Parts: sequence; C-alpha cells; structure tokens
Amino acid sequence: KKEYNLKEFTTCESTLMMLQKAAAEGVDNAFFRAAEMKPCPIGMESACCKHCAMGPCRLNPKDPYSRVGVCGATIDTIAARNFARMVASGAAAHTDHGMTMLDVFRDVVNGKIKDYKIKDEVKLREVAKSVGIEVEGKETLEIAKELYHELEKTYTQVEGEIPFAKRVPPKTLETWRKLGIVPRGAMREIMELMHRSHMGVDQDYRNIVLQCSRTALADGWGGSMVATEISDILFGTPKPLVAAVNMGNLKEDHVNIIVHGHEPNLFESMIDSVNDPKLIEKAKEAGAKGIQLLGMCCSGAEALSRHGIPHAGNFMSTEAVLVTGAVDAMAVDVQCIKQGLSTVAKCYGTRLFTTNPRCKIEGVEHIEFHEREPRKCTDKIVEMAIERFKNGRPDRIVIPPRRDFGVHGFSHEYINYMLGGTFRASYKPLNENIINGKIRGVAGVVGCTNPRVRQDWVHVELVKELIKNNVLVVQTGCSQIALAKAGLMKPDAAVLAGDGLAEVCEAVGMPPVLGLGSCVDNSRILIACAEMVRIGGLGESIADLPVAGAAPEYMSEKAICIGQYFVASGVYTVFGVTFPTIEGTKFHKHLFEELEEMGLGKWGFATDPIEMAHKMIAHIDKKREALGIMG
Ligand code: SF4
Ligand code: FE2
Repeated sequence: KKEYNLKEFTTCESTLMMLQKAAAEGVDNAFFRAAEMKPCPIGMESACCKHCAMGPCRLNPKDPYSRVGVCGATIDTIAARNFARMVASGAAAHTDHGMTMLDVFRDVVNGKIKDYKIKDEVKLREVAKSVGIEVEGKETLEIAKELYHELEKTYTQVEGEIPFAKRVPPKTLETWRKLGIVPRGAMREIMELMHRSHMGVDQDYRNIVLQCSRTALADGWGGSMVATEISDILFGTPKPLVAAVNMGNLKEDHVNIIVHGHEPNLFESMIDSVNDPKLIEKAKEAGAKGIQLLGMCCSGAEALSRHGIPHAGNFMSTEAVLVTGAVDAMAVDVQCIKQGLSTVAKCYGTRLFTTNPRCKIEGVEHIEFHEREPRKCTDKIVEMAIERFKNGRPDRIVIPPRRDFGVHGFSHEYINYMLGGTFRASYKPLNENIINGKIRGVAGVVGCTNPRVRQDWVHVELVKELIKNNVLVVQTGCSQIALAKAGLMKPDAAVLAGDGLAEVCEAVGMPPVLGLGSCVDNSRILIACAEMVRIGGLGESIADLPVAGAAPEYMSEKAICIGQYFVASGVYTVFGVTFPTIEGTKFHKHLFEELEEMGLGKWGFATDPIEMAHKMIAHIDKKREALGIMG
C-alpha cells in the first residue's frame, strides 16, 4: 500500500487519528480509495452520455462543440440531461424519505402505530393553517387527518400546485407560474424529468432546466418540507440545547451504538430501546457501565437537534469511527451509507445492520424496521451490540479524546421566538438588523463532506470568513457537524464575528452560526427566507433578499437537487469540489447567469473557501445595493 500524507485528507483530529490507525492496520477506506481512483476527466465535466446503446458517447471537454453524440446530441443537451438525472435522483431520495414520514403520520393518526404519537400539537395546528386548513374548534385528530390528506398531494397530485406553494412569497410564486415551474406533485415531476431526459426527448437545455427546477422545487417546498414538518409534529420541534459532537463521545466501558442515516423514525425507536431498563440491565450483566447511543450523518443531526443525543461525526468519518474498535453496533437506514462500511466493520468485529428494505448491503445482516413494531428491530440491535461488547471486542480500542460542545436545535420557530421574544415573535429584528447593516446578510452553508477535498476545511474556513464579514450563517447536515467540531456553535464564537454581527449575537445570546438540523431541514431555511420577505423591508421575492447559499464539499445527487431548489427559489448558490458543467458552454452560462435574469437565483462555483465567501458577500452586497440599504 502507498504512503499517504494523511493530514491532506482531513482537518478533523479524530478522523486523522483513525486514518493513522487504519493505515497502520491495513484497513481500506474512502479516503485511500479516492487517492487511488482518479476521477474520469470526461465524466467529471459531464461530457459523456450513456443514455442509449448507440453510445456511450464521449465529447471532448477541452473542445466541447467539436463533436456531438451519435444521435446528434450537443454538449448542452448531454450535460443538461446528466444534470437532470441528478436532480431527479436527489428529489426522489428526499421525497421518498418525506413520504415515509407521511406514512408513519397516517398510521399514527389512524391508530395503527402505537409507538409514536403527535408530540407537537401547536406545530400541527400551525402547519395545517399554513396549507389552508380551518383549525378553530377542531380536535387534534380531525386536523391531523385533514392535514394528512392535504400533504399527500405533495407526492401524488397530478394537476394543480403542491400544498406548500401557499408558503411561497407571492412574487416568487408569480415568477414560477410565469415560467410554468410550480410543482404539481413530486411523483409526476420526477417521472416527467426522467422521461424528458430519455434519449430522443427534450433536447433544448433551457427547457430541460425548467423541468429540473420544477422537480427540485417539489423536493424543497415538497418532499423535504413535509419530512421536516411531520418529523417535528411526531418527534418535537427542536429548541436550542447544548450537545456534544465528535468521537470522544464513545465510551470504552459502555456498549456503544451508532445510528447512521436519514430517517428519524429508526433513531427515535433506538432512543427508547437504549433507555429500556431491561436492556440496560443486560448491558450491565455483560460488564458494561451502560449503553451509549450516538448519531452520525443526518438522522444523527436531527437527534442532536431534538434530543441532544451526541453526534460522532459527519459523512467522511463513518468508516473512521469504526476503526476505533469501540463501536459495538452500527444501524443504518437509507442514504449516504458507504458500502465500504461493511469491510471496516468486519475488520473490527462491529455488528453492522441494515434496517430498511430499500437499502440492503451484500454480506451485511438485515434486521428490518417496521414502524408498527419498531422496538422489535431496535431492541434486537441493542442485544447484538451487548453480545459484541461481551465477546467480540478487539484487543486494542483507541477512542480519540475530543468532545466539542455547542448549541444546536435552532428551528425556524425558535429563531422567530429568540429574535422577537415571547410576545412579539417575529423575524422583524433580523430584518431590522440587516437593514441597519449590523448583519450584512444571511448565508446557508450546508451539505456533505467529500474525500476529494480536505475534510471540513472548506466548510470551516468559509464560515469563519462569512461571520467575520458580518454574515449570519445557518447550517444543516454534515456542514453543521464540521463547524460544531470547530467550536463555532457556541455563543462565545461571536468573538470571531465582525462587530455588527457580534453585537447582535451578544444581545440575543446566540452563536453566529445556527445549526438547523439535517439535509431535509434545509426546508427550514426556505421557510426562514419566506418569512424575511413577509416581514418586509427586504424586497418582495426571495430573489431580492441579501442571502446566499453554499455546499462547499458536496458529493451527492441530493445536494445537486438542493442546490437547484435554492437557485429556483431565488438564492445564489455556490458549490465547491467540482461542478458537472463545462465553462464556456451555453448550458453553463444558463445555470450561472441566465437563471438570475429570469427572476430566479443562480449557481456559482469556487473551491477556495475565501474566494467562495467573497463571491457570496459580493452577491449579498449587490442585493443590499438594489434594496438601497448599502453602507
Ligand atoms: Fe450517444 Fe445520443 Fe445515445 Fe447519448 S443518447 S449515448 S449522445 S447516441
Ligand atoms: Fe444528509
């Protein structure tokens, strides 16, 4: 095996320690594989099409108009279709997740599921009102039934507008209507996008991008938003709490269980299982002091936000954490689950379980999770973890010592409350502080980590530069965990902020970086944007707001879909790592310039965090200038 400079792979101390251990013990992982596997230069620039058996056709990324595919498809058609397939897949992932949450909600409402309940009735009523359901004088269950039927349309409706279109600022909605991109139902939009990107159908990149927007909006204002809202209703709306991240939350003398994935239902049941006195007793009989539950990735970010459950690390740490040898069991559900986990788990005797029928891994034990009997699955996994603690631990366990504390759980509702105080809950103070210039604007920094860039580095440097320039940062997903590990989720991180932002943070007692939860919780950012427009003073549409977004270390198709729904909603959105277009092509220009001229947002690209920050700041300043609030 080659010698690597491991420090180039990550800035996360714990992950680095584990990579050193993995290298010494000959354990392969995604960092090492990325170093071995150079990306295909044609595929990387999206200049290759394999949509039919006359191809695959490869164009020349250095001279993209020098040839066309066998069918005659140009670089713009090929890149737009590839992009469309990414959007469709990403939207499908989020909407399938959201639909699962809605299935659970339906069965809770009709009494078939007894292990979950409606936990947040206030939120239930608020969400129902927001989609036009009359709530006065009605029982909770009645409202819940109506809400179920209304929200089902998010997925299944074939004509009309998805229910949460009612939350979109009128002028933004007007632009969408004019362009014909208000989503009908997610299934329909994803189906149409898959159809249109088939060989020989839509061959006008601008027309393809319209359907990309419509499909992506069916995710952001549809599938993802339903996932967030229903999860809040069933499991509670997050409120700020102090919680710890990083691998130091593993306890050598405890049975350690990690839940890694995206759907909170598995996690919620696991919380009940690890708190069951009978199972705790069993763990003690096996010689453990107790059971330690940790999250990873997005369901981990939700459990961190809702319940303060410690989080072990983000996407690029999921293999590394197993190298500790301390993880007795890891349960996964869907999305961002590396197949490589299976090999690493075997090296250390960690019991790895898939739980969702959508996501099995060859050679990995499957214990299916059913919401009607959730404990059957999660109790079993706890028992297996206890068994491994007793009989299967490796001789040497190394737990990186770091635990980083911070404040998490800033839901849209809480931000409203925090800024406005109990009796005048409102975004008004935020808008006022933006207008008076103490806060320059708001940036959403979100998304994955990716072994093609140094883990966490771009996230952390980007956010530091933004807050230094008085840009308030909101976060979700793996990016949030990167900043939590860097200690920026604490109110005293305000010392790193510019004077204006620091003053607001100190007055309110909030950190300059607010963690909102998982990737589907990017919908909370959309709702916050809509609220900023509604309060007034910052323009009439989301595209007028001094805001910007970034996914600096993204890797997934879901991220591309999220980027597209932010762009279609009116937000300038900058991605890092690599972007699936060729500069100088018409398709690239369309995404990076023309969409803005159509009243939407636009894409941006940068790999250097400081350059990325200043692109975002320049955009925020441009919007401030247009609003007449410069200086
Ligand atoms: Fe080639 Fe056209 Fe077939 Fe794509 S659809 S593989 S460009 S012939
Ligand atoms: Fe995620």
